Amino acid sequence: MKRYHRIAVIPGDGIGTEVISEGVKCLKALSEIMEDLRFEFQYFPWGSEFYLNNGRMMPEDGLEILKGFDAIYLGAVGDPRIPDDVTLHGLLLPIKMGFDLYVGLRPVYLFPGVKSPLSGYSGGEIDIVVIRENTEGEYSNVGGIVGIDERNLAIQGALFTRKGIERIITFAFEYAKENGRRKVTSVTKSNAQRYGMVLWDRVFREVASRFPEIQIESKLIDAACMDVVRNPKGYDVIVGSNLFADILSDLTASVIGGLGLAPGASFNPRDRRYPGFFDPVHGSAPDIAGKGLANPIAAILTAKMMLDYLGEKEAADLLYRAVKKNLSEKKVRTIDLGGRSRTDEVGNDIVRILRSL
Ligand code: NAD
Ligand code: IPM
Ligand code: MN
Repeated sequence: MKRYHRIAVIPGDGIGTEVISEGVKCLKALSEIMEDLRFEFQYFPWGSEFYLNNGRMMPEDGLEILKGFDAIYLGAVGDPRIPDDVTLHGLLLPIKMGFDLYVGLRPVYLFPGVKSPLSGYSGGEIDIVVIRENTEGEYSNVGGIVGIDERNLAIQGALFTRKGIERIITFAFEYAKENGRRKVTSVTKSNAQRYGMVLWDRVFREVASRFPEIQIESKLIDAACMDVVRNPKGYDVIVGSNLFADILSDLTASVIGGLGLAPGASFNPRDRRYPGFFDPVHGSAPDIAGKGLANPIAAILTAKMMLDYLGEKEAADLLYRAVKKNLSEKKVRTIDLGGRSRTDEVGNDIVRILRSL
């Protein structure tokens, strides 16, 4: 196994920079604890500040620069001074789409020691993996705005290909099978979205027939949103289009204690030619940025997912155990979890636990 990993670090904007420091801190601690584990971190100051200075979110050859790395670790992008479609279409989305990282993996777990906003659930009782299609669907950039004044017209297309649908749904079933999960729920809105989502439903049934051991369920997105809150235990693996799984992943984060605990990974399981991309589900959180209030655990769990992707299972497990212990001790935690600690204090505590394991 390759034990030397080249990581491109893009802290980005807002709390992105604060949480990524803590993730890198944990990775550095792991490489001190595990002698033959080595990382090379190369930092890229891309994002909104870069945009204000250069008129672009990343250099023109940004993807060329990134493609030689083993993984990309990003905090978040988004700045109130710049329209969000400019920031996201200038950095985050071109990476996922340009490198064909079609799987978005967004697990949530109610850790012992964390209180769900839903009453009656204790640690371990909510455990859901949202699998998001990352390269097409509603994010395909098909359309445009034309005309002026009252003749202004916008068309926003959603692109669904059989190949794109088939590969993400197949991944969801394979993931369920390999990880001892029993059920896959597909989420669409095929009562109103008559073409792309009807095709999605059809392909879901076809793929499901190859996995008779996995229980299946097809739900409309509106009902799914209601039901995830009403009965989160009823969900195991959820697969959905780019937009629906994006929205659902904030909702599932919320039921396990918030965005501060929800990690994310984007990768291509069939082709490792390009680096995987790792960023927490949350954004740059301008409302709390620069104050040391952000919970770094989502970013630290994202680093854990990056370790899994890099084949560093032992390091990933150690980091996971350290996070679990920090949460169960309930001592050093940020304000979103009812604590008073700062972002870096949580990172330091997880490093302390790592050294004691
Ligand atoms: P957000 O995820 O940044 O914040 C939503 C709420 O959750 C805020 O109240 C915030 O304070 C809180 N929150 C988020 N992460 C937290 C953490 N780690 N600890 C504690 N609290 C946390 O969503 P938003 O406000 O809709 O978006 C802000 C900006 O981020 C926008 O520009 C948006 O486009 C961008 N965004 C970027 C990404 C990304 O880069 N991956 C993801 C989502 C949103
Ligand atoms: C996410 C974000 C992005 C997305 C936005 C900011 C474009 O919400 O990573 O969840 O929808 O992909
Ligand atoms: Mn999102």
